Amino acid sequence: MQEIHSKREGFSSSIGVIAAILGSAVGLGNIWKFPYVTGVNGGAAFILVYLLCLALVGLPVMLAEHLLGRHTKANAVGAFKALQPGRPWFLVGGAGVLSAFLIMAFYTTVAGWVYSYIFKAAGGTLLSTKPEDTSLVFKTLVSGVSEPLFWQVFVLLVTGSIIMAGVTKGIERVTKVLMPLLFILLVVIDIRSLTLSGAGAGLSFLFKPDFSKITVSVVLAALGLAFFKLSVGMGAMITYGSYVDKNENLPKMAIKVALADTLVSLMAGVAIFPAVFAFGFKPDAGPKLLFIIIPTVFNSMPFGRVFMVLFFVLTAIAATGAMLSLLEVPIAYLTEQYQWTRRNATLLTILGIALLGSTATLSNSLLAKVTLFDKTFFDFFDFATSNVLLPLGGIFIALFVGWQWGYAKVKQEMSNEGKLENDGLVRVYMFLVKYVVPTAIALVLLAGLNIIHF
Ligand code: PFF
Repeated sequence: MQEIHSKREGFSSSIGVIAAILGSAVGLGNIWKFPYVTGVNGGAAFILVYLLCLALVGLPVMLAEHLLGRHTKANAVGAFKALQPGRPWFLVGGAGVLSAFLIMAFYTTVAGWVYSYIFKAAGGTLLSTKPEDTSLVFKTLVSGVSEPLFWQVFVLLVTGSIIMAGVTKGIERVTKVLMPLLFILLVVIDIRSLTLSGAGAGLSFLFKPDFSKITVSVVLAALGLAFFKLSVGMGAMITYGSYVDKNENLPKMAIKVALADTLVSLMAGVAIFPAVFAFGFKPDAGPKLLFIIIPTVFNSMPFGRVFMVLFFVLTAIAATGAMLSLLEVPIAYLTEQYQWTRRNATLLTILGIALLGSTATLSNSLLAKVTLFDKTFFDFFDFATSNVLLPLGGIFIALFVGWQWGYAKVKQEMSNEGKLENDGLVRVYMFLVKYVVPTAIALVLLAGLNIIHF
């Protein structure tokens, strides 16, 4: 009980809350996934669709989760159980716990690559501006067996020990300091990338839309990225919302988080694409994009090696902040629903992820030929969560808040028990979660998965 009680003290300050929630949103999604998915899907037009998905769908679902979490002070499953006891709504939270495992399975693979790059950069293995050299370093790493597995386990141990320290001491303290530092470093890399000769082509790719590139699968990818980016659709934001103080202005907070998160993604795009074109790479290189481009950028600037080490350290930290929130979903569930100790819940969770995650890590070597629905384990976990489970979770969370919980309760929670005057906003919001969000997601999902055709 003591454990639960102390957890419920939650984040200790307003800045701490934003930092932790932003710490969940900002991660490999911005620095690794946003650039490569944008590259694969054709650039600027994709970004516009992504922004639309973010504003119309991702943001309302984020707010829905914060409202549910803060109101019930419970984990992803417990929140639904508290509001609709004995009804199947808790399965939405259950699917969220599953999604957390599946995301962690491939997220820890990539985080492991990032951690290892800190040492490669420091040790001098990455000191070349030649594309062939940086590609080879990456290929050697991911096609190995023990090296990437070692880093994956290492990542899990680091994240697990922070999580065991608890919400305020662990999560909040780490994220508060390091997020601003990442931002500053991105500014430095952006300047370098923009001043490379030939940078213009990268900027047009990023900001000049070519609408002929938009297909239903591109729209599904944009929607999936919006969910993944904001950490919504699986109860991570219910869980973090449960630690938020009752005086916090939730709509404002969600908007701030989404804006800051988008800024970081765009800055990562500006860091990467001008260099992609300047060094003659292809923008659609996929998951390896970050790992081959970033070293070439740094190697073409003074003190590149120092900056490169710093960059991978900060990316590792951003990834770790996001993983803390992913881990917190099953851990809050196990400690609250089954009264497990935080320690045991953490140990079991990271063990489960290590086992499942090793299949993602080995997708580039031993298990490269093993496929599920025509995808390697790595790609399957990624696709199944971002493009299926999170959007599905989003539909149900929106429907729940819009139709089950209803206007009066939502208004009460969103206005901090009547302390904020936001009646108009609540009405617009209810319209979004009742109609717009579920319909938009359902259409994109059905079309993107080839179930209906336009
Ligand atoms: N938002 C994180 C990122 O963009 O890297 C990923 C993520 C974290 C997804 C937490 C889901 C989640 F619950």
